[in-house]
Amino acid sequence: MVNLGDEFPNFEKDSSEGKIKFYEFMGDSWAILFSHPADYTPVCTTELGRVSEIAPEFAKRNVKLCALSCDSAESHKGWIEDIKHHVKSKAKFPYPIIADEDRDLALQLGMIDPDEKDAQGMPLTARAVFIIGPDKRLKLSLLYPATTGRNFDEILRVVDSLQLTAEKKVATPADWKSGGDCMVLPTVKPEEAVELFPKGVTTKDMPSGKGYMRFTPQPE
Ligand code: BEZ
Repeated sequence: MVNLGDEFPNFEKDSSEGKIKFYEFMGDSWAILFSHPADYTPVCTTELGRVSEIAPEFAKRNVKLCALSCDSAESHKGWIEDIKHHVKSKAKFPYPIIADEDRDLALQLGMIDPDEKDAQGMPLTARAVFIIGPDKRLKLSLLYPATTGRNFDEILRVVDSLQLTAEKKVATPADWKSGGDCMVLPTVKPEEAVELFPKGVTTKDMPSGKGYMRFTPQPE
């Protein structure tokens, strides 16, 4: 398993776009590796189609995308035509799909879904999401079962939060969206907050009398 803050493995794998060396693929960008159970399955087709539609939003945020399942690169190439058909796209498919037929990456990254097996009884990948920073360290992970498709607008939202909070001494509250008010980190002293947040800090009165609920407009 890779824990938050750990160095992400620099794996080498075949993909729908040929061999991928992960760190070379990332360069200085952020990256999202997301797995799905199998090619030619309905929920996966909607998920990879949706990601292809919003791929420009990830590119704007300097995030490279790659998908993964336990099927072969040849299978991925064939399935991509179905995904493009599903989202009515004639454009080049915007990201590679990694082939993990031997499941070594699936095992290394804890992506196996205990409830899903292929026709030969081999385990399949769950719906994992790993967001990796330009320092090649894991910033966020999610694990959904095969029966629950992911919300990729939420993945864009968390990228916005991760990138903002990597630079500024703020955290983002429940249901925050880019441009919304942020919370000043509890570790920031009041005198430091005045310097760091020229747009102002508002402290909400709480029954406890503790001044921990400090809001500030999203810093530039
Ligand atoms: C799907 O993508 O539709 C799917 C795949 C494996 C199990 C359940 C659903």
